[in-house]
Amino acid sequence: MRNKAIITSALPYANGEIHIGHIASTYLPADVTTRFLKQKGVEAYYICASDDFGTPILIQSEKEGKDPSDYVAFWNKRDLEDFTAFDIKFDFFYRTSSPENIEFVQDVFKKLNANGHIYETEIIQFYCDHDKKFLPDRYVIGSCPYCKAEEQYSDLCEKCGRVLEEIENPRCAICKNPPVKKKSKHYFFKLKTFGEKLNTWLEESTNFQNDVKKYVQNWIKSGLRDWDITRDISWGVHIPLPEAKDQVFYGWFDNHLGYISSAIKFLNDKGIDGKEFWNSADIYHFIGKDIAYHHYLFLPAMRMGIDQEYKLPDYIPTRGHLTLQSKKISKSRNWYIGLKEFLGYYPADYLRFYLVSINSYSQDDLNFDWDEFATKINSELIGNVGNLVNRALGFTKKSFNGIIPAPKEFDQQDKDAENKIKGLGNELSGIMEQNHLDRALKKILAFSDHFNQYFQHKEPWKNGPGTDTCVYLTVNAVQSLAVSLYPFLPASAQKIWSQLGMKGSVSEQLWGSISDISIKPEHKIGEVSPLFSKVEDSDIQKHKQNLSSPSN
Ligand code: 2FM
Ligand code: ZN
Repeated sequence: MRNKAIITSALPYANGEIHIGHIASTYLPADVTTRFLKQKGVEAYYICASDDFGTPILIQSEKEGKDPSDYVAFWNKRDLEDFTAFDIKFDFFYRTSSPENIEFVQDVFKKLNANGHIYETEIIQFYCDHDKKFLPDRYVIGSCPYCKAEEQYSDLCEKCGRVLEEIENPRCAICKNPPVKKKSKHYFFKLKTFGEKLNTWLEESTNFQNDVKKYVQNWIKSGLRDWDITRDISWGVHIPLPEAKDQVFYGWFDNHLGYISSAIKFLNDKGIDGKEFWNSADIYHFIGKDIAYHHYLFLPAMRMGIDQEYKLPDYIPTRGHLTLQSKKISKSRNWYIGLKEFLGYYPADYLRFYLVSINSYSQDDLNFDWDEFATKINSELIGNVGNLVNRALGFTKKSFNGIIPAPKEFDQQDKDAENKIKGLGNELSGIMEQNHLDRALKKILAFSDHFNQYFQHKEPWKNGPGTDTCVYLTVNAVQSLAVSLYPFLPASAQKIWSQLGMKGSVSEQLWGSISDISIKPEHKIGEVSPLFSKVEDSDIQKHKQNLSSPSN
């Protein structure tokens, strides 16, 4: 682990609201990790941006009769508001349509071209005579040649998941007329020639998940194809060549370069040499498994193609997709829960807690289930964490007027409890560094559970000889809980912090303080009130009914 880090998560397309599926695989794990790294004293920055270019966005803005730049500006702002409400704390949220990114992308293209990694060739493209436009990707709909599903886009069949070579019965997505075929000159990136270099890089990287590494290496083995990086539309980064001035880059050529250009802009504005920082930091790209191809192959190959002027990623944490009530999330079929809608029902920390706890560090899909959500919140978050905090602090308030007593002699149970506190920080640290956030959260719950039992055994309400030590140690355990929970549940951790009567913000506490016995006798705790409120079954039934049943 270096003492500097740049963390990114997949850039959200600026064409719709953020929903709980987006959060689970990328934004939340990246946010938790960044908060953790900062607590460890790493100079870490979480950088993100809206992904503004590409045909899906242009089509949607045309459908809504909006100028694409106004359209993406709207979603950029709205997405950031939703992320912020959910306590996803970016250090910088920019956009791929920024002047800095446009310049950077054009510059990278020129370097790739100069290094011999680009060639041009004429291809046949669909063209709509009625709309007078070329029709790339999503501009053509038709039937899937494999599974025969109708109304699919020409780049991908949503039904069978295959990338399509040629769609059947093609129609223009705008006017529905059949398109004609026309020649167009396109630029290709020689991805094929990077196969061996990519393979060696993957082989030598020790930080990647083994299963992802294996399937990426299998893609390399079965042969990479060069990438068509040109689109015949007007919305995008223009190709910086006079003969191609009406064409733009494919969205996947420019978007990941937005990680670098946004980071550099942010750092330079802070007075830090952005490029120098990038090249001496650990680079994390958090993604969902659907874009593994782009991040393990295309992105590193492009960086290799410019002589690694910007270093390759050290970590590409890749997670599975979220299903909702065991069905695939689909915006078009209205089978999803918008983040904003969710936050209208429950605090951010409830969703953060639930999603981290069901999200393993793997490609496995995970499922949002309303009943399981209620059970986890009520029994684990409230029944365990909320209970310990409220019990320990409530008792201190009531029986000691809020003043921490000096400990007396330690019996074996007290010694065990003290050791639990002293060992927690280290125990969690390794697991967090390996990105097993769910396991770390489980350990914190086990810690909290231990202290619930300890408190129960010691029966301090009987005011026996062990009472003072029990209160002293349990309140210190609550302190450990606040600091260790902070990356996961920042708002609740801050509440615990304030109830403990601690000064400043819990976010400023270093990880090492988890294992300190830092609350001393005579310390006065703050006002105590319940941290959470129960999730009611009647509400859960309503939420379930609110989801309209998808057609398939
Ligand atoms: O799949 C997506 O949602 C893309 N917008 C992700 C882009 S990540 C990139 F910039 F590398
Ligand atoms: Zn048309």
